[in-house]
Amino acid sequence: MNRDFKNILFSEERIKERVAQLGVEITQSYSGSSLMLIGVLKGSFVFLADLARSIDLDCEIRFMSASSYGTSAVSSGEVNIKEPLDFNVRQIAGRDILLVEDIIDSGITMVELREFFSAFNPASLKICTLLDKVSRREVPIKSDYAGFICPDEFVVGYGLDYAERYRNLPYIAALKPEEYS
Ligand code: IMP
Ligand code: MG
Repeated sequence: MNRDFKNILFSEERIKERVAQLGVEITQSYSGSSLMLIGVLKGSFVFLADLARSIDLDCEIRFMSASSYGTSAVSSGEVNIKEPLDFNVRQIAGRDILLVEDIIDSGITMVELREFFSAFNPASLKICTLLDKVSRREVPIKSDYAGFICPDEFVVGYGLDYAERYRNLPYIAALKPEEYS
């Protein structure tokens, strides 16, 4: 294990098992619907790649970008929603949208994203997050699908970064506080 880490919170095996379960749940819930998965870049790219392959449905995959962090470990509280990268937002009217995030922390990003997408009249709009730091919520928002409840630690790996590092780890680890403070 890397010296920057306190411990491994979710092993590669546990993540694999849980993502497969989420895929089954989503497959059942959305059978017969026009599902569009929208991954929030960059953190969700690893999760979405695995999740999508465990969803046994004809679905569209799109990406958009939102960030609030810059290179610090504490949310700036200001969310920067960029226009969806690869589609016209009007295409979501009447569609079943599932936003795929890496982690919900204060909830500020998700509240903004939900508002942004609701304005374009999807048939449904739900949230799937790999990690949910429920104890850190500052604004009311609940995930519809969550991989794991995450303790109040700064975590990296499986797509999650600290200053663009560690995204390629196959597991999720807690960063030592001295590494980001
Ligand atoms: P929120 O707006 O406070 O909910 O923050 C959500 C975003 O902050 C996530 O999409 C992540 O990009 C980032 N984030 C929050 N907690 C962590 C963490 O522990 N590790 C890495 N990124 C995090
Ligand atoms: Mg993110």
